[in-house]
Amino acid sequence: MQIIKEIKQDILDSDICLIPTMGALHEGHLSLIEEGKKLGLLIMVSIFVNEKQFNEEEDFNSYPRLIEDDIKLLQDLNIDYLFIPENNYIYSENAFEIIDSGILGKQYEGSSRPGHFDGVLTVVNRLFELIKPKVAIFGKKDAQQLFLIKELVFNKRYEIQIIEAKTIRESSGLALSSRNLLLTDSAKEKAALLYTILKEVKKDYSYRRELDAFEVFSSRYLNIVIDYLEILDLETFSMPTEKTDEYIILVAAIIEDVRLIDNIEFKLESE
Ligand code: PAJ
Repeated sequence: MQIIKEIKQDILDSDICLIPTMGALHEGHLSLIEEGKKLGLLIMVSIFVNEKQFNEEEDFNSYPRLIEDDIKLLQDLNIDYLFIPENNYIYSENAFEIIDSGILGKQYEGSSRPGHFDGVLTVVNRLFELIKPKVAIFGKKDAQQLFLIKELVFNKRYEIQIIEAKTIRESSGLALSSRNLLLTDSAKEKAALLYTILKEVKKDYSYRRELDAFEVFSSRYLNIVIDYLEILDLETFSMPTEKTDEYIILVAAIIEDVRLIDNIEFKLESE
């Protein structure tokens, strides 16, 4: 594994599968790498804690950083490149484009975290422009992020294949996240309820379409602060219509000061 801080011509001459991360790697990240290995391309993992996507300085400062552990993990996995850029390389003056994530970027996760998705798209676009990967892999865990990245690739006409990887969970149902490192044991127990809520909303919605999920479930689970709970059309990421085929339920909650998100996709049983 080569650890690099800058992108040189040899990378541009290779067929790269890029897996962008912010480090503090866990089994969810590793599953993306496993997906990538099936492709027969050179695997590059990037680790960059992107300040632009944090809307609160405190959140940026407390984000887990475990670079030595991450390097060891990746060495064992035998990937080709680990890209650890400096902030002033990614955001070198006038060399990067600021991407506006539009209306969807201000809804759901974006509504509670102003500027977050502009920051995500700006860094992902910069990575795409620098590395010019053939394939990039993202997790469905961050469904709105994934949707916006697919829109970016479409709008920019990039010839980059986006692979969507399924969410990896603990046996409790809790979706793995680097932020879980910030949770106490009791907070982790509460956090596992998010997946329970998603499964319950899915079940209820399947037989009773007019469901105000937020009302019902925020009163049923009083001990967690739900920020939003939304049922959307998976293909358009907007309100379901009679044409909707696949649905996604999004949830965000703040548990002991840690913000967590999760989602579940489903189709209605045939009527
Ligand atoms: P990060 O949170 O480190 O996640 C890196 C990638 O791992 C993302 O594509 C994310 O969806 C995926 N991932 C996280 N948890 C997962 C899980 N439990 N199962 C499967 N995949 C999971 O997402 C980011 O970083 C950043 O926003 C980034 C795209 C790197 C831009 O800065």
